[in-house]
Amino acid sequence: MVAAGVLVSGSGTNLQAFIDRIAAGRLDCVIRLVLSNRPEVQALRRAETAGIPTRVIEHRGFAQREAFETALIESLRAAGVELVLLAGFDRLVTRTLLAAFPMRIMNIHPALLPAFPGLHGQRQALEHGVKLAGATVHFVDEETDHGPIIVQGAVPVLPDDSEESLRARIQQVEHEIYPLAVQLFAEGRLVVEGRRVRVRGPRPTLPGPLVVW
Ligand code: GRF
Repeated sequence: MVAAGVLVSGSGTNLQAFIDRIAAGRLDCVIRLVLSNRPEVQALRRAETAGIPTRVIEHRGFAQREAFETALIESLRAAGVELVLLAGFDRLVTRTLLAAFPMRIMNIHPALLPAFPGLHGQRQALEHGVKLAGATVHFVDEETDHGPIIVQGAVPVLPDDSEESLRARIQQVEHEIYPLAVQLFAEGRLVVEGRRVRVRGPRPTLPGPLVVW
C-alpha cells in the first residue's frame, strides 16, 4: 500500500480515476492529501466527496517558487505522503520538491513523449499531423515533461478530430495508465536505470501493435 499525495489545479479527472480504482479495490494506494494551488477547483470537490483531506496553497502567495514548494513539502510530509502524483498541476516543479521526493514524483502528460512536451500536447499533435497520439506517465526530473517514462498509451488521431475530441480520447487512456503506473510502484516493481524504467515481474500479454493510417 503506497501513501500518495495528489497535486491538482483543475478538473481532477485523473484524481477521480485514482479514487474510483481505490474504491473498487484495484489500486493499492491511499490518498492522504489532495493539494491544490488554486481554490475552488473541481478536483477539490471530488476529493471532499470521497472524504480525502484537502489543502489549498496558492502559489501567488509566495514571492519565490522555492518558498511555495517548501510549503508543499511541509504539508505532504505532515500527511505522511511517500509518492507525489501531479495530476493536472499547472506549476513547474523545481529541485526543491524533487530533492524532497527523489524518484517519488510522477506526472501524466497528454502526448507520446518525447514528442510535444509543454502546453497543449493535443493541439501540437493535430498541428503536426501525427497519426498516433496518446499519454505518458513519467517520473519527474528537472526538465519539463522529460523524466524516465513508466507507461505510455496510444490512441489514433482520426481525420475529423478537433482538439476537444482528441483530448477526450487521450483522457480515456490517461485514466487507465496513471493508476497502472501507481499500482506498479505500489508493488515495488519499478526499477529506474538511467532514463529507462524497467518493470520487474510478469505482465499480462500485451495487445498487438496499433497501426493507423
Ligand atoms: C490531463 O490532460 C493531464 O495529462 C495533464 O493535465 C490534464 C489534467 O486533467 N497533465 P485532470 O485535471 O486530471 O482532469
